[in-house]
Amino acid sequence: MKVLDVGCGHGLTGCILAERHPAARVDAQDWSSVLAVAEANAERLGVRDRVRLLPCDAFDVPLDGPYDLIVVGNLLFHFAPDRAAELVRRLAGALKPDGRPVTVGFTTGDQSPAQEPHAHLLGLLLLSWTAGGELHSTEAYGAMPAAAGLTGTELTARPGLPLRVQVAGRSGPS
Ligand SMILES: C[S@@+](CC[C@H](N)C(=O)[O-])C[C@H]1O[C@@H](n2cnc3c(N)ncnc32)[C@H](O)[C@@H]1O
Repeated sequence: MKVLDVGCGHGLTGCILAERHPAARVDAQDWSSVLAVAEANAERLGVRDRVRLLPCDAFDVPLDGPYDLIVVGNLLFHFAPDRAAELVRRLAGALKPDGRPVTVGFTTGDQSPAQEPHAHLLGLLLLSWTAGGELHSTEAYGAMPAAAGLTGTELTARPGLPLRVQVAGRSGPS
């Protein structure tokens, strides 16, 4: 299983995947200063030999696919919707025909800020910390893979967490 963890940060998503799936090889991509943390986690979890570090901008990094799985965890909200969609399109081109992109992110639903404080607070931080980032709606997250030619998008909420997980594909959910 060939995995790309884009904007991997701490790298734990890819490293835990590698720990649980001995056949998995993970490309962990982020800025070089951040990858030092991911590398330490890969060593700590005993999977360093199957984790390759890709220090680069996610929009420029040469994509050595095709990948079975591309994880985009808490990254797309750093960018404006059209820029985020551009990245999803780029990543879709690096998937195997039956490969899956998994996107994780905070979204707001139809509840008030008082009922979704974490998501709304993150939205406020993105306004001040990023050039164009924003808390994308669930509809916007769904539209990105569709615009990249992917289908069968499934969106799930994680109970007790302000996160949504979206899995897309080319032929439908499984
Ligand atoms: C909020 S963290 C998410 C980390 C991890 N994926 C997770 O789900 O917990 C976002 C990460 O994306 C990285 N990042 C942001 N913009 C990036 C870009 N243009 N290219 C590469 N990495 C980027 C940041 O350095 C940071 O580590």
